[in-house]
This record gives sequence, structure tokens and C-alpha cells, in this order.
Amino acid sequence: MVHRPFIMLGIESSCDETAAAIVVDDKTILANEIASQIQTHAKHGGVVPEVAARSHLEVIDQVITDALAKAKLKMGDIDGVAATAGPGLIGGVAVGTVTAKAIAAAREIPYYAVNHLEGHALSPRLTGNLSFPYLLLLVSGGHTQLLAVKGPGRYQRYGTTMDDAAGEAFDKCAKAMGLGFPGGPAIEAAAKTGNSKAIDLPRPLNGTPGCHFSFSGLKTAFSNRLQKLGGPNTAPVADLAASLQAAIADCLADRTKQAMTRFRDEFPPADRQQPLLVIAGGVAANQYIFDQLLNNANAAGFQISVPPAILCTDNAAMIAWAALERLGAPDTLDFVPRPRWPLDPNASPPPGRGVRQ
Ligand code: KG4
Ligand code: ZN
Repeated sequence: MVHRPFIMLGIESSCDETAAAIVVDDKTILANEIASQIQTHAKHGGVVPEVAARSHLEVIDQVITDALAKAKLKMGDIDGVAATAGPGLIGGVAVGTVTAKAIAAAREIPYYAVNHLEGHALSPRLTGNLSFPYLLLLVSGGHTQLLAVKGPGRYQRYGTTMDDAAGEAFDKCAKAMGLGFPGGPAIEAAAKTGNSKAIDLPRPLNGTPGCHFSFSGLKTAFSNRLQKLGGPNTAPVADLAASLQAAIADCLADRTKQAMTRFRDEFPPADRQQPLLVIAGGVAANQYIFDQLLNNANAAGFQISVPPAILCTDNAAMIAWAALERLGAPDTLDFVPRPRWPLDPNASPPPGRGVRQ
């Protein structure tokens, strides 16, 4: 029997954010602390796994202490502990899971090994009254996926990227233009004064059947255009940024449109109910992309929902919440972290190489 209220400590360390959060089963977020390594990685123009793992180790105790202080709780008040156990950079995942397991063992409380993608997938339910099923576009620096979310642990993947993630394309193109890391916000800012039709860029896979994505050809085309225009010092950076943002938005919109059609066929809505499209992940913060997706969703008769920005990017509240969604079914302490951990193990891989999970 699980007693309530149940207070869950969540830990996230799968990429470049060390985060700890304390969430109650009634959806109260008592603390949501995030220590970002952006400054550390900015000098390298991207996340360096070894540097990230060391940084997680250095700050994780303090971040947990800060979360407890924020929540005005002691470790003895925590009823369960959840940590991201994959997918992600294994060094960071190891730091978070070992910490969580140590707390669980010392305090004799349940331990939950959470799939980072499930954290993103269920995060909109933490702040909104959303019911299953819904269509999810998860679009971040590490993932670009379309999934039907049927319930905790129940996912049907419609599409994933065959190569780079959308955020990765933003980051790499921004780096080529000398705009710094992370690239998405820098490109969105630069694009404000640019012409999105100025530079002709491809929209890989648009108009083809299915819901998979591909961004590496777009990235290569972008580098070629940049070079032809004389490199970052002479090229029209604002036009390049606006054109890239428009190309990525078109790709996301086209694939999401296909997914909405499929979702509506597979999950016909009950009378007068509108199906729901949820967008999560760092790229969801992009206003241009959101507007385009909103137009498409409206045209297709879908409602659209985006979790608040703090829950869209990597955070530990979503990890605590994913564990609370399956309260009473914890994992054992011998759970082995998984660098790759697809939400839908039965999904057919996209054609081509380098399948991303
Ligand atoms: O979800 P997130 O914080 O971390 C993971 O990758 O899991 O996403 C970070 C990604 C980066 O690639 C960043 O460039 C992108 O989200 N991003 C954006 C914007 N803000 C963050 N991309 C486009 N426009 C933005 N405003
Ligand atoms: Zn993430």
C-alpha cells in the first residue's frame, strides 16, 4: 500500500543539466532546481560527455541539498527517489542513478529508474489536466520523435530522426556561423531581422509518406551556402538564420501533419472531443516553430499544448512525475542504466542508417 501524500525526489543528469526536484503525488512542485553546464560547454561549442559527467559529480549533492531547502524538507521527509536511467550520456546517467540508489538504500525507500523520454512525454500532465491518448512531438537537442502517448509505459512511435535531432541542427549551424551554444535561441534571435526566403534550403523528406525526420542534408546544404557566401564574416547571418529556422519549421510541420492524420485514424475522438497535440523539448521554445505548428494543428482540428518552458527543457520535476505516474511499481536497485532506451521497443526503424532512439 502506498501512503499519500507521497513526496518524490527526482534527479536528472542525462545531458548537460544537473537537476533535482521534489514533487508530491497531487502535482505540487515543491522544488525544481537546475544547475546548467551551458557555460562550461559553450567554450567547446557543444556538450563534451567526459566534462559533463565530471560536472554532474561536482554539483549533484548541492543541487539535491538546494531542492530540499527550497521545499523546506529534510531527506527524512522523502518517500521515494527517481532518477533518469537513460537514454543519454552514460557518465551523467551513472552519476544520477548511483546517487538515487544510495539514497534509496540508506533510507529504505523505493527507487524508480525513469526513461528520460517518458519524463518529457508525461510532463504536460504535471501542469495540465490532459487525458490519454495524445500525440507528442518531442523536439530537443538529442531527440526528434512523434509518438502516440497511450499511458505510462505505453507508447507508439510514429517517427524519429534518421540522423540529427532538430536542436542539433540548430546548434551545429549556429556554431558554423559563430553564434555560440546553444544555437537555437541564438538563431531565433538572429532570424528576427532576416528574410526567411532569402536562402534556398532543402526540406528533407517533406511530402513523402511516413513520419520520420532527417536533418543532416539540411545541415550540409546550410554549410555549403554559408561557405559560398564567404563564411560567417561576410554572409548575411540574419537571412541565413531565418531561412534555416523556416526550413526546420517546415520539416517539423510536414511530418507532424502526417502524424496527426495517422493519430486521428488510430484514435478516433469521442463526440465533440478534439484530439490533442503536445510539443515538448527545448526546440518547443521557438516561437516561429510553435506558430507554424499551431496553424497546422488548428487546420487539422487538433488542440495544442506546450508545457511551461521550465518543464519543456531538461528538468527533474518531469522525472519525479514520471515515477509518480506509476506509483507503487518501483524498480530494484540492480536496474542497469541504458544509454539507449526506446519508448516503443516495437517501433520499426526508419529507412537508412544510424537509427536514433
Ligand atoms: O530539451 P533540451 O533543453 O535538452 C535536450 O536536448 O534534451 O533542448 C535543448 C535544445 C538545444 O539544441 C537548443 O539549441 C534547442 O533545444 N533550443 C532551441 C530554442 N531554445 C532551445 N531551438 C530553437 N529555438 C529556440 N528558441
Ligand atoms: Zn531532454
